[in-house]
Amino acid sequence: MDGRDLVRSVKAVGLVGPAQGLRTVRAAWRRRRTDAVGLPARGAERARVPGSVTGVEPGPGGGVVRFTRSELRITVMTTGAVFWGWDGAAPEPSYALSGTSPEADPRAVLEPDKDGGWRVVSERVTVVVSRHGAVEVCTPGGVVLRKELPPRWWEPVGGGQARWVQRAEVAADARFFGLGGRAAGPRLRNGTYRLWNTDPGGAFEPGDDPLYITMPVQMVVSDVGTHLVFHDTTWDASVTLREGEEGAGSGHDRAGMSELRAEGGPLRCWVVLGTPARVLHVWASLTGAPALPPAWALGHHHARWGFGSTQEVRRIVAGYRERGLPLDAVHLDIDHLDAHQVFTVDRERFPGLPGLARELRADGVRLVSIVDPAVKAEPGNAVFDSGRAADAFVRDASGRRVRGLVWPGESVYPDFTDPRVRAWWGDFYEERLAQGFAGFWHDMNEPVSFAAFGDTTLPRSARHALEGRGGDHREAHNVYGLTMAQAGYEGLRRLRPDERPFLFSRSGWAGMHRYGGTWSGDVATGWPGLRASLSLVLGLGLCGVPYSGPDVGGFTGSPSPELYLRWFQLGAFLPLFRTHAALRAGRREPWEFGADVLEHARVALVERRRLLPYFMTLAHLARRTGAPYVRPLWWGTPEDRALRACEDAFLLGDALLVAPVLEHGTDRRAVRLPRGRWYDVVTEEAYEGPGQVLVDAPLSRIPVLARAGAVVPVRGRDGELELEVWAPARGRTGGGLVVADTDDGWDEPDIERFTSHREGDTVVVRREGGGEPGYAVRVRGK
Ligand code: NOJ
Repeated sequence: MDGRDLVRSVKAVGLVGPAQGLRTVRAAWRRRRTDAVGLPARGAERARVPGSVTGVEPGPGGGVVRFTRSELRITVMTTGAVFWGWDGAAPEPSYALSGTSPEADPRAVLEPDKDGGWRVVSERVTVVVSRHGAVEVCTPGGVVLRKELPPRWWEPVGGGQARWVQRAEVAADARFFGLGGRAAGPRLRNGTYRLWNTDPGGAFEPGDDPLYITMPVQMVVSDVGTHLVFHDTTWDASVTLREGEEGAGSGHDRAGMSELRAEGGPLRCWVVLGTPARVLHVWASLTGAPALPPAWALGHHHARWGFGSTQEVRRIVAGYRERGLPLDAVHLDIDHLDAHQVFTVDRERFPGLPGLARELRADGVRLVSIVDPAVKAEPGNAVFDSGRAADAFVRDASGRRVRGLVWPGESVYPDFTDPRVRAWWGDFYEERLAQGFAGFWHDMNEPVSFAAFGDTTLPRSARHALEGRGGDHREAHNVYGLTMAQAGYEGLRRLRPDERPFLFSRSGWAGMHRYGGTWSGDVATGWPGLRASLSLVLGLGLCGVPYSGPDVGGFTGSPSPELYLRWFQLGAFLPLFRTHAALRAGRREPWEFGADVLEHARVALVERRRLLPYFMTLAHLARRTGAPYVRPLWWGTPEDRALRACEDAFLLGDALLVAPVLEHGTDRRAVRLPRGRWYDVVTEEAYEGPGQVLVDAPLSRIPVLARAGAVVPVRGRDGELELEVWAPARGRTGGGLVVADTDDGWDEPDIERFTSHREGDTVVVRREGGGEPGYAVRVRGK
């Protein structure tokens, strides 16, 4: 057990209490024993490299290059996405892809290159394959963005899964982002990042890695271009990153390096070149459109582990109402369940839940339910009985149902990698809907089994269906949360076909955005946790997961009033705006931190509500284009190194720049601006970018700047949509998009386009195609 495992185990024991402590020891031994008999022993291995080119076979989009000991399939798609796979690996089957196979570009040609190598030439990208199997991805102009060195495999002599390593070189100035949700980002510094979804146990700090969502997806940004790379293997793996060094004019740059070591799985890779926006658009076309949240899910949510009773829920909701604070959803954690059993209700402490749901709904507040995958292994528990009859639970190599330890005690785990089990599980959401729940919060789905030592998950030898192919937990672990999300989403689509499901999940993998979003998980209360919250949202967005947000105030302990407020102010500008905390943590209601904090939190809540049409527009754009709502400052100008270095501010869509306060005792902060004019949205003071400016950040607000020319849809006093227009600079024009949607159904509202320009001193706003805007217009920032 390494140091991290020890810390996690101690935390796990701390969480379940001393009475459970012994059970975590037993659970850990049991897991170890299961693996001792179930896992193939690691014996002698033989190393292999591709060897030299022996021939080629042209095919659509490229073709196959044969080597003495392997073969490489290269396909350039019509979107410009490049696929390559060694040893016969093809794009499918894949948990990441959406199922609509991308089309090979028939215009791409495979032709001989220098020194016995080959290349595939296409309109948007050239792929050069060396005689020994190095693969370079180049712009059409011949600039190399990524060079993958020939891979190396280690194959068990008696047959079985081969381990492999693939090392790539990138430009000396390249910066790495992504790899799922990483607390230490958004820029991923030199180090090794594991790809194995992990509950850190208790709470995490920026140094904790890995966390709940890992994915082999990286966005690499350098002066010569941006690319996204995806190694499509779900197996346990790690990525080592080393930023390059520039030789300060000496001409001796040291390239940046990214190396993936995988314990198994196909060696196949996707690369997409282009601007960040294009790269994520192509990514969404490969992996599917991000789920569109219902309008209410873009409002404010209040969650709590330990509400304890319906009275407590009513008290909190009344607290918001009496103070005139907007509230859109309340989340019920495991304490509303009967003995922590999934799909049940503690009817003593939560009697008449459907009635409560109706009552809250009348006030515009939805109820959201936690859903954990582990099922209490006890005859009489309906989910257990039904799952046993349906043979729904994960078994070990000897055919016994695998048991783990979670909140309800001894539990079994549905095998969500089986389509039959997904359908079975999806039907249980009917019970939740009947209780009045409108949204779902998937938790503990890494999946977790508390253990006093070692990994806090299922045995690696546990068997999974893997869509009929069969395999074990080493391959299925990372997609457990993803397939659970699929089960929930598809179930809800069947049960409530007219409503957009609202689902967010702690764990997941590439492609999870098709089913919903995620949240930070148990971020430790403290200033470093506040910074980690932003890093997670930015990093996930660059992996194609646009909807996420932190536990406002942090999960543990009691934030100072100042920290709580700063967290609240940041959260108000993130897609999922949710207050949440652990069972024994301090209060998190906005009125628990004194009169000043209450007033400032009110401002943030009211502003969030005012910006709902803008958030809804961003949600629609995310679905149609893959662009996250929350974007790094370099989004439109990745070649701007100063912006690339900035990690403490972000763009919210095209129009707003948000500069949260992430440090204690701040009332002014430096803000790095992209090119153009920016207005402080409160003082309307204009700043000119590019450059860095000092902006007031009093306790009452965090700096938010609007881009000159922007047309932002907002909710007016009477609830009607209005256009807030930020005056374009002289000689410049601007504009914005609006998707007017306040609903939770499937209607497809049009995208309305507006432009802004000056005529003398007047700012004129037009609907594209001519004519009046059709909405009230308010011009600001002259
Ligand atoms: C762990 C989750 O991350 C947290 O948000 C939740 O409150 C607890 N599980 C209890 O369900």
